[in-house]
Amino acid sequence: MCGIVGYVGTKAAAGVLVEGLEKLEYRGYDSAGIAVMEDHKINVVKAKGRLKNLEQKMEHHGTPFGSIGIGHTRWATHGEPSDVNSHPHGNERVTIVHNGIIENYVQLKEKMIAKGYEFLSETDTEVIAVLLDYYYDGNPVETIIRVIDNLKGSYALGIMFVDTPDTLYAVRKDSPLIVGVGEDENFIASDIPAILKYTRSYYLLEENEIAVLQRNHVTIVDHDNEPVVKELFTATWDIEAAEKGGYPHFMLKEIHEQPKALVNTLSPRMVDGIPDFGIKALSDDILKSFKRIYIVACGTAMHAGMVGKAAIEHLVRIPVEVDVASEFRYRNPILSKEDDLVIIISQSGETADTLAALRLAKDQGVHTLAIVNVVGSSIAREANSVLYTWAGPEIAVASTKAYSVQVAMMYLFAIQLAHVKEMISVDQTKILCAELMEIPQLVERVLETADNCQFYASKFQNAHDIFFIGRGLDYALSLEGSLKLKEISYIHSDAHPAGELKHGTISLITEEMPVIAVATQTALMEKMVSNIKEVITRGAKVLLLCKTGQDEMDQLTDYVIELPKCNDFFTPLLAVVPLQLFAYYTAVLRGCDVDKPRNLAKSVTVE
Ligand code: F6R
Repeated sequence: MCGIVGYVGTKAAAGVLVEGLEKLEYRGYDSAGIAVMEDHKINVVKAKGRLKNLEQKMEHHGTPFGSIGIGHTRWATHGEPSDVNSHPHGNERVTIVHNGIIENYVQLKEKMIAKGYEFLSETDTEVIAVLLDYYYDGNPVETIIRVIDNLKGSYALGIMFVDTPDTLYAVRKDSPLIVGVGEDENFIASDIPAILKYTRSYYLLEENEIAVLQRNHVTIVDHDNEPVVKELFTATWDIEAAEKGGYPHFMLKEIHEQPKALVNTLSPRMVDGIPDFGIKALSDDILKSFKRIYIVACGTAMHAGMVGKAAIEHLVRIPVEVDVASEFRYRNPILSKEDDLVIIISQSGETADTLAALRLAKDQGVHTLAIVNVVGSSIAREANSVLYTWAGPEIAVASTKAYSVQVAMMYLFAIQLAHVKEMISVDQTKILCAELMEIPQLVERVLETADNCQFYASKFQNAHDIFFIGRGLDYALSLEGSLKLKEISYIHSDAHPAGELKHGTISLITEEMPVIAVATQTALMEKMVSNIKEVITRGAKVLLLCKTGQDEMDQLTDYVIELPKCNDFFTPLLAVVPLQLFAYYTAVLRGCDVDKPRNLAKSVTVE
């Protein structure tokens, strides 16, 4: 939530900042702003709404000149989206951009008002700028340390002091921030794509480390103002990965990238046809010791966890609980450090509730395994063990390829656990792995249903509500299909276990209520046929997603999307694709902003 970027170098800072913000706009798009410093003077331009409003404003009123600056794209928390609440915030001495939430800002604001300060905005951020002014003693780093000691909450801050016109400062706690190192130029950013055009080298800032950036020099100090020696990382994402590459939207591009993402995630973990994660902290002996697993995540990642639960319970026969992170962290979960494993799933690796759930489990001495897409993210760094999914950058707010690789990783983990616990033989392990490795090719074939999905989207685009039904793995998938549809098309949608309908929900079924039935599981076929007939009898139009060759199914409805044959166990990896495409085309037909749905942001770094 919120993206920040900063530049110090030889180029015109405004252009670099706006380009960076373009790459970070997925993190929030309620407003945008930049501040550029020249000759001890800071010029700020900000505008409510999308980044293009800021660009238009600069076209009409002039672009601030200078080669040092900071920029921000906002997801509003405190204070409505407006020009005045947009970042940067500041005063004559200091200007800042902030990502995070200051929990004690009301008390701090009252204290500063009592000292005679006036506030212009309703934001929590402005209090940081005021504190920096209040404590400023000529030494920016010491001042920053004093100020952060007063703050409760989360922050990634880019800071410019007029007294040091060639220096940019940055600090973070519980919000992500990287320091990009270039040739005669240096950067700060919330995420790697913002700097990829200029450099691949970056430092990861640890909690409360302060970065001091000049054009040709970066120093990082700790909370005691002592220099810290840091490892310089190299980003492996290529710049094309963060571009649309000819697709009209990132979401469509990312849906089509799923076969590649699956291959990249699965292949490196396969040794002689058997899963091998190569994680020392998760030796076979440790794996064998787990008697219960919790999977904790939010949203789409949680839905991937639901497939993981089914896979692990099916193969390993140990209980698995799936929890929404915001519930898990406050429900005092019963954890055993001897027997339990907590698996944390997150694309961004920064989701506030998920990170808090991870910390809770760690504090109780339970082993935590993170399945994360963003290298070096907070969750990846803090978990006891990490398995990276190699989906590459996911820019569209609605998650697609990240879901698929999370699910694939859950399958691989389930197979490995079953193998080390000797629940399946070596031969069975190899067969399952071989089947899993065929999935990317099958996903390629499923992508060919795109025209069909577009056609059905045109039939359903005017619905006010759409229900999804399924059983077992298909129910987990229905939840994901329903979330995808509602978040980007704004059609109200719910997912229900098909057998639950007659316990209440079926009273809502009329000709006005289309139903999407996911029915890929052979063992549950007859039950699904009955449930589909029940809704058809009550007038619902049904779009059916099933495997090819299931004649009884085909005859139920005119609207059918068929999937290629594969082991029922792995069908979620195929069936999710038409659900994503259906949601995508419905949103496009309804004229929605597919990549940036209203009120949402990609990386939810606030509770
Ligand atoms: C929906 C979506 C969200 C995320 C959720 C968790 O399309 O993307 O539901 O899955 O906010 O985000 P991560 O995986 O970054 O922790």
